[in-house]
Amino acid sequence: MIIVTGATGQLGRLVIASLLKTTPAAHIVAAVRDVAKAADLAAQGVQVRRADYDDAASLDAAFVGATKVLLISSNELGQRVPQHRAVIDAAVRAKAGLFVYTSVLRADSSELSLAPEHRETEAAVRASGLTYSLLRNGWYIENYTGGLAGALAHGALAGAAGEGRIAAAARADYADAAAAVLSSKGPVEPVYELAGDTAFTLAELAAELSRQSGKQVPFHNLPQKEYQEMLVGVGLPAPLAELIADSDAAAAKGALDDDGHALSKLIGRPTITLADAVKAAL
Ligand SMILES: NC(=O)c1ccc[n+]([C@@H]2O[C@H](COP(=O)([O-])OP(=O)(O)OC[C@H]3O[C@@H](n4cnc5c(N)ncnc54)[C@H](OP(=O)(O)O)[C@@H]3O)[C@@H](O)[C@H]2O)c1
Repeated sequence: MIIVTGATGQLGRLVIASLLKTTPAAHIVAAVRDVAKAADLAAQGVQVRRADYDDAASLDAAFVGATKVLLISSNELGQRVPQHRAVIDAAVRAKAGLFVYTSVLRADSSELSLAPEHRETEAAVRASGLTYSLLRNGWYIENYTGGLAGALAHGALAGAAGEGRIAAAARADYADAAAAVLSSKGPVEPVYELAGDTAFTLAELAAELSRQSGKQVPFHNLPQKEYQEMLVGVGLPAPLAELIADSDAAAAKGALDDDGHALSKLIGRPTITLADAVKAAL
């Protein structure tokens, strides 16, 4: 049984869809917090089991028969280390043959404020004795394309990443990578640094948006604090605004750049291009 946690999340749904191309549905378990959200997965023959990171008994029940477990990192920032430990412990009890975790690009040295929770989780995975594969995912391109409608409406794209290059890829690219590792018949790497094939600056993103929309949308680089305040001003919750501005500031120093091409090698095709991502968003 291949167990996928967070299977009703945006990445989790794409992982299940990708796995279904190579793996019989009956061999896939969607481990989800709320089974009602997974009715569509059950309809495709996927086994749906309740698995709440805050409820160890639910994890034990969900992991029965686990050969491989994918832990998709939780979105409950600040709670992630105990939640992830609970999942690792349950995978140990279930004697899973492979444990896969979605970490962050260069988690061991990353300056992103998100990185420490991933570092701690990686350490717990290593200490567990499980055979593991750490998928150190770079940025989702959707983190940026999701804001393009707003940029068009305001006539400018704001950010704090300066000239930093961002090797982003689509969620679907990272999902295919997770599915490739989970469905591999042979050995897999303990660590993959995964990122998009082509890095871009936010000025290049703004230029592509301008080209495709026919409207001039310049990039306005702001100091981190000002960008954070701007995000709060447009209605983002303060912690999220802080996180996004922090990520941009780290990106300015290269934290989200990578030219290893491990992601496209793993999935056997190029990752999404900036032009295609902007086109899809528009
Ligand atoms: N690389 C990037 O750019 C980037 C950007 C954003 C996030 N991330 C990380 O990547 C992860 C996956 O991304 P995503 O876009 O799929 O995020 P998402 O749509 O927010 O999915 C997060 C998943 O975590 C599940 N979850 C949260 N708390 C849980 C709990 N207590 N027990 C069980 N499940 C729980 C959610 O369950 P429900 O479906 O029930 O809500 C959801 O399925 C995120 O959680 C975050 O750690 C990465």
